[in-house]
Amino acid sequence: MGKDKLRKFAENLTFENLIQPEFDDIFHRDHLLKGHWAESFFKNTAPITLELGCGKGEYTVGLGSAAPERNFIGIDIKGARMWRGAKTATEMGLRNVGFLRTRIEFIESFFGPGEVSEIWITFPDPQLKKGRENKRLTSPLFLARYVRFLSPGGVIHLKTDSRELHDYTRRVISANDLPLVVASTDIYGESLATTTALALKTTYERRFLDEGKPITYLRFGLADRRDFGM
Ligand SMILES: C[S@@+](CC[C@H](N)C(=O)[O-])C[C@H]1O[C@@H](n2cnc3c(N)ncnc32)[C@H](O)[C@@H]1O
Repeated sequence: MGKDKLRKFAENLTFENLIQPEFDDIFHRDHLLKGHWAESFFKNTAPITLELGCGKGEYTVGLGSAAPERNFIGIDIKGARMWRGAKTATEMGLRNVGFLRTRIEFIESFFGPGEVSEIWITFPDPQLKKGRENKRLTSPLFLARYVRFLSPGGVIHLKTDSRELHDYTRRVISANDLPLVVASTDIYGESLATTTALALKTTYERRFLDEGKPITYLRFGLADRRDFGM
C-alpha cells in the first residue's frame, strides 16, 4: 500500500465524524448506532439524509454546510476517498456531517425503522454487465433494504451520467408502482438544477460534464411497499 494511503488511513482513526466498524460488529447483527444516531452521534433529532457511494464526500459536505438544521451521513467502502470528506467536515466544524465506512450491502445493520428521511445516490457504478443487476443501488434488492429504514414519505434521489442506469431505475419505479416526483434526462439542459442540493457537483460529475455528457436525475419515493420486483 502507498505511503499516502497509509497516512490517510492513520488519520481516519483520529476523526470523530468517521465510523469504521469491524466486520464482526455488523455481519448478521445490528451496529450499536442502529436506531440511535440522533442521541448517540448527532446529539439532536434533526432529520437524517444518507449519501450512498459518497466517494470523497463532496455531496455530503456540500449538503451539510448548506443545511445546518439537518444531519448527513456519507457512506462508502473506500477509506482513502472518505478521508477527504471527513477531513473537510472536521476542518469546517460541521457537526451535522458524519461518514460511515461499510459496504452498502450491510446498510440494514446501521439504521432502524424510519431513521432516515432522504437518500442521495450520486454517480454510482452503473453495474451494466449482464448478471450484475442485483449490484445496482436502485435494484429491487437494494430498495427492499432501504424501505426498512426510510421514513414514511421519504425520498430517494438518483443523479447519474448513465442513461442505462437512469432508464433501468425508471423501469423499477414503474414496475413497482412507486411515486415518481421528478425525472430528467438532462438537468442542466432543462435548467432543473435550481436548488442548492441538485446544483452540487462531485468530482465524477465535473468529469462527465467536461466530457459533454448529460446529467440525469430521478426523485422518487418507496410508498409503503415491502416487496420489490421486476
Ligand atoms: C463512481 S464513484 C462516485 C463517487 C461520488 N459519489 C462522486 O460522485 O464523486 C462510486 C463510489 O461508490 C462506492 N461504492 C460502490 N459500490 C459500493 C458498495 N457496495 N458499498 C460501498 N461503497 C460502494 C465506491 O467505492 C466509489 O467511491
